[in-house]
Amino acid sequence: MKTILITGGAGFIGSHVVRGFVKKYPHYHIINLDKLTYAGNLANLKDIENEPNYEFVKEDITDAEGMNAVFQKYSIDGVIHLAAESHVDRSISNPMEFIFTNIVGTVNLLNAARLSWKENTEQKRFYHISTDEVYGSLGETGHFTETTAYDPRSPYSASKASSDHLVRAYFHTYKLPVVISNCSNNYGSFQFPEKLIPLSINNIRNNKPIPIYGKGENIRDWLFVEDHARAIDLIFHEGKSGETYNIGGNNEWTNISLIRELCKIMDRKLNRPKGTSEQLITFVKDRAGHDLRYAIDSSKLQRELGWKPSLQFEDGLEKTVDWYLANEKWMNNITSGDYQKYYESQYVKR
Ligand code: NAD
Ligand code: DAU
Repeated sequence: MKTILITGGAGFIGSHVVRGFVKKYPHYHIINLDKLTYAGNLANLKDIENEPNYEFVKEDITDAEGMNAVFQKYSIDGVIHLAAESHVDRSISNPMEFIFTNIVGTVNLLNAARLSWKENTEQKRFYHISTDEVYGSLGETGHFTETTAYDPRSPYSASKASSDHLVRAYFHTYKLPVVISNCSNNYGSFQFPEKLIPLSINNIRNNKPIPIYGKGENIRDWLFVEDHARAIDLIFHEGKSGETYNIGGNNEWTNISLIRELCKIMDRKLNRPKGTSEQLITFVKDRAGHDLRYAIDSSKLQRELGWKPSLQFEDGLEKTVDWYLANEKWMNNITSGDYQKYYESQYVKR
């Protein structure tokens, strides 16, 4: 029996990781620790909430004592740390939340693990989930590798870069058995509709404008979330201590071409005449410091651990659209209340 602490398990990627671990490893005790911020939603885990190997703990990672208490209460063998403030636009309007959760929260977990794991550390693992945004912005060519120098440019990416540095510092200084992965943009079910793809699907469904920042020429490398969750499982079990692994889809799209592709799928699914959804595309003021291009070289992970993405983007996007259209209630629940206020201040008043 192993006890695995997964932080941020009620969020988008975390819920896929928790579900995967609960189902695949019945002999593991999976603890999902989450503060349930606006982005955390236990409805994301409805299907597994009664499984005997699953437990939810409502805690805030910025609470150092709380983290120590969790490590005292449970005999934790491994941590998969996903809890974070994750949205770049929110980091521009409210950076401090990102400093507290992403930096201080990560250090609290590192400290709690260090204090509790005094012996047999070769059996333990602290896995920190990070982002390709720490590497900064690419021009038209090149890819981020694990040795690309850090050059974060938003409060979000700077806070993630900072936490990555601290995780590595605990490896070198205290011999804490850490591993890190840096992944590109994820898409799929259960993503909060502040992010480009679910926001656009929801707006198209409701005949609302699709806000595209600048000219829509920024490029992202998209990966299906279940492929990321599979990579996390693999790295958690087989990655080498102290190492970093890049994870990416090898799947670059400009925002505008991605949204046009999405519009075609939505017209077909909603039985609307071709070209209807594209008319909703609206170019709005650009994001401050908007990174031009991200592209990940994931050859190390492919070569050393045998991972590769499983889905073609067009298939993954279609699957994603089907999920959001079939789960209107989920979307309606999270877009009522505070979401409206966020949307107003982010888009209407810009
Ligand atoms: P998300 O915003 O959907 O979920 C974050 C989760 O963390 C939520 O459940 C939230 O309640 C929880 N949380 C936030 N602050 C907390 C706190 N102080 N204490 C405890 N829990 C807290 O995020 P996501 O998109 O699923 O991203 C998960 C992780 O993966 C993040 O670390 C992010 O940086 C990283 N990542 C995301 C992507 C992406 O495309 N979404 C890509 C690469 C890496
Ligand atoms: O690269 C990994 C990162 O991907 C993760 O670390 C972040 O947590 C995750 O949020 C994501 O960051 P992005 O900023 O790339 O994702 P977002 O969905 O916010 O935006 C994708 C692109 O679309 C980006 O170029 C900005 C643009 N965009 C976004 C929104 C929300 C728009 O044009 N309009 C929008 O309304």
